[in-house]
Amino acid sequence: MIRENISIIVAIAENNAIGKDNKLLWHLSDDLKRFKKITSGHAVMMGRNTYLSLPKGALPNRRNIVITNIENEKFEGCEMAYSLEEGLELAGTGEECFVMGGGMVYRQLLPIAGKLYLTRVHHTFDADTFFPEIDPSHWKEVESEFVDADAKNDFPHTFHFYKRIH
Ligand SMILES: NC(=O)c1ccc[n+]([C@@H]2O[C@H](COP(=O)([O-])OP(=O)(O)OC[C@H]3O[C@@H](n4cnc5c(N)ncnc54)[C@H](OP(=O)(O)O)[C@@H]3O)[C@@H](O)[C@H]2O)c1
Repeated sequence: MIRENISIIVAIAENNAIGKDNKLLWHLSDDLKRFKKITSGHAVMMGRNTYLSLPKGALPNRRNIVITNIENEKFEGCEMAYSLEEGLELAGTGEECFVMGGGMVYRQLLPIAGKLYLTRVHHTFDADTFFPEIDPSHWKEVESEFVDADAKNDFPHTFHFYKRIH
């Protein structure tokens, strides 16, 4: 069943790469700013690996929901979910909740998400983590904006915003 309040937020290379060695593959200042603007004041949900990749732990000014199978694991400033179902329960059905990775969590939640905030990075990378295929028949593009590379952005990229149509 589709969960309208569950949104995916992700940056994806041309070959669907999203990470390597539990790190991002690029530095895009614009994308980090956009991520902060869109998610601040809301809940974010992530897998344990993505949590561990954050340089300063839980993201400020947001509810941080972290999914893990490890019983009794606790991270400071985070709400822990010990299954996907528990994560979705914590997310509730009202306020928008942003799924912020990584690959394993995107694969499970892309099929039920209602919105998709996607940054397409116009480059191909060697990677160990990839975003699942997006079926274009399920999504309608609402907005897009191209940004060229510059001193603060390693690669040209395009911000896309999609809503699920079915
Ligand atoms: N480009 C982007 O926008 C973006 C965004 C975020 C992350 N990333 C990248 O993605 C990579 C990390 O992705 P990943 O696929 O390795 O890991 P992940 O999805 O962040 O985390 C996977 C972990 O989450 C837990 N988990 C996932 N589903 C679960 C479930 N149904 N029930 C219980 N626990 C569950 C498990 O933790 P336990 O092992 O503790 O059980 C699992 O090992 C990194 O390279 C990161 O930089 C990229």
